[in-house]
Amino acid sequence: MRIAVITGAAKGIGFETARQLSDRDVRVILTGRNAEALEAATATLKNSDWQVLDVGDDASVARFFDWLKTTHSRLDVLVNNAARVYGGRGSSVLGTDPETLHEAISNNAIGAFRMMQKALPMMRQGDYGRIVNVSSGMGALSDMGSGAVPYRVSKTALNALTLLAAQEAAANVKVNAVCPGWVRTDMGGQSATRDVPTGARGIVWAATLPDDGPTGGFFRDGKAIEW
Ligand SMILES: NC(=O)c1ccc[n+]([C@@H]2O[C@H](COP(=O)([O-])OP(=O)(O)OC[C@H]3O[C@@H](n4cnc5c(N)ncnc54)[C@H](OP(=O)(O)O)[C@@H]3O)[C@@H](O)[C@H]2O)c1
Repeated sequence: MRIAVITGAAKGIGFETARQLSDRDVRVILTGRNAEALEAATATLKNSDWQVLDVGDDASVARFFDWLKTTHSRLDVLVNNAARVYGGRGSSVLGTDPETLHEAISNNAIGAFRMMQKALPMMRQGDYGRIVNVSSGMGALSDMGSGAVPYRVSKTALNALTLLAAQEAAANVKVNAVCPGWVRTDMGGQSATRDVPTGARGIVWAATLPDDGPTGGFFRDGKAIEW
């Protein structure tokens, strides 16, 4: 049975990704910052477990991987889903303070970077790996709008890390970025055009790619989109 770790998995797209993977007989480890929410979410799924993990904190990431190596010794799938919105839709470059930009990059991009640094050697050892960095069209340079400045920059950085990590990954380790579209979650709001299962489907597709599947790409609904 494949082992998958999902960050920020107690709710929203992260939880739905966990649900869809567990339905495909993947053993899923839900992680996040809130133990109570994780325990409640995990109780509704088969083949699953949970651990507290704050991707914004080096020590928390190190503790998690120590636990994973002791309990499972393998990692097949990593979904870097955890993120927060920094800067409102109306936020501008001139109106953004450096600390907020710094925090957004640390949480949303360096968080995934911390996880990939620990995950890639384990995947290389197992000669199998699927890393999905949950990104956003809001981070695409080809479609850069305005507003939500810190969030956009953090997702652009995540896209760059995706390409760089894909080049360093071993032969059967694939690293891709996926935009779930505009999804009705706490982050996306109720006006969003997509339901949560639809948003998660493209992530599950990238998490379960066959050995001849793509790597170093940016996808929505399983189709390549511009960086
Ligand atoms: N919804 C959309 O329309 C949309 C569009 C494009 C991309 N996305 C991306 O899709 C992903 C999931 O978003 P969502 O809509 O499901 O948002 P959500 O409902 O707000 O869930 C985000 C999750 O990430 C967790 N998280 C944030 N920072 C964390 C950290 N440092 N360590 C661990 N967990 C952390 C949150 O936990 P806490 O509750 O503890 O904060 C929460 O569980 C994100 O990467 C987002 O950028 C969403």
